[in-house]
Amino acid sequence: MARVFSGIKPTGGVHLGNHLGALQNWVSLQDRADAVYCVVDLHALTVPHDPDELRAATLSLAQILIAIGLDPDRCTLFVQSHVHEHSECAWIMECTAAFGELRRMTQFKDKSEGSDFVSGALFTYPALQASDILLYDTNQVPVGEDQRQHIELTRDIAVRFNNRYGDTFVVPEAVIPEAGARVMDLQHPTAKMSKSDESPQGTVLLLDEPSVVEKKIKRSVTDSGSEVRYDPAEKPGVSNLLAILGAATGQSPQRAADGIERYGDLKAATAEAVIEMLRPIQERYHELAADPAETGRLLAKGADKARQVASATMARARANLGLLEA
Ligand code: AMP
Ligand code: TRP
Repeated sequence: MARVFSGIKPTGGVHLGNHLGALQNWVSLQDRADAVYCVVDLHALTVPHDPDELRAATLSLAQILIAIGLDPDRCTLFVQSHVHEHSECAWIMECTAAFGELRRMTQFKDKSEGSDFVSGALFTYPALQASDILLYDTNQVPVGEDQRQHIELTRDIAVRFNNRYGDTFVVPEAVIPEAGARVMDLQHPTAKMSKSDESPQGTVLLLDEPSVVEKKIKRSVTDSGSEVRYDPAEKPGVSNLLAILGAATGQSPQRAADGIERYGDLKAATAEAVIEMLRPIQERYHELAADPAETGRLLAKGADKARQVASATMARARANLGLLEA
């Protein structure tokens, strides 16, 4: 079975775009692959952060992932900082990546421009990401288009290391979903739905209460005219609602339009479908949130499973690099 690895940062709330565009796929991959999923808290340290918020966001994100259907018995779910090999291997990745390669990463350019404080780690971020992936003999990395460049770099690092020091790392490939479930901002339907602090009214969070979900969807920006049809170029607002309604009810956006005549009805149907999709997720989340110690135990077991693979890979890397045995 193919090994699949992916990671998600504990920053900001998880929104509908993350869920429909990425996390639903994580859930379905559990049964088709040997899936390893990681809450990448060390990556969250690359930008200024509040310690209490990070601790809470890490726990909460793990609980959301379990609530949407990641089953710690059918996948490996853990927190990055619990498996020390990630930072250890990151150093080796930094020594293998070229400065020029890191300098070409567009995410670094985007995130550093205009910031008051740019950490060295923001620059070496992709080396830590390569470490995450390569420690697990990963074959496939399901990510969004924005991560393609980081996975390409990971491949280049793996190949270079193997050429220099002998076969050590599996060379992974990115698996990027076709345009499909790209969820747009409800207020600016030509922009991707993203972290809520940028557009609170345009972003539906998985933990938004039903009344909040309803308000956000009912106030979403639609297009001129009055016809309900899937046409992202001409009707971005309506098409986004149809895409969400379709994804939430397991049908194509075109199909979702069947029988809906008016914008008001489309909004009502979409709000209802999203609320119903989120209801069991939120119930499960609140159960988990009531017993943080139980989540802690699940994450400790996940870290143990992860460590077994990661430590074997590290041992191989250390030996091949010529580090003296302790
Ligand atoms: P991010 O929130 O950017 O860290 O993304 C986490 C995952 O969710 C990545 O795999 C993204 O590609 C995916 N994702 C983020 N926003 C959207 C969106 N609006 N539509 C579809 N997928 C998204
Ligand atoms: N950099 C990724 C993002 O911003 C998160 C991430 C960290 C990741 N390590 C990873 C994704 C390893 C895939 C594999 O979304």
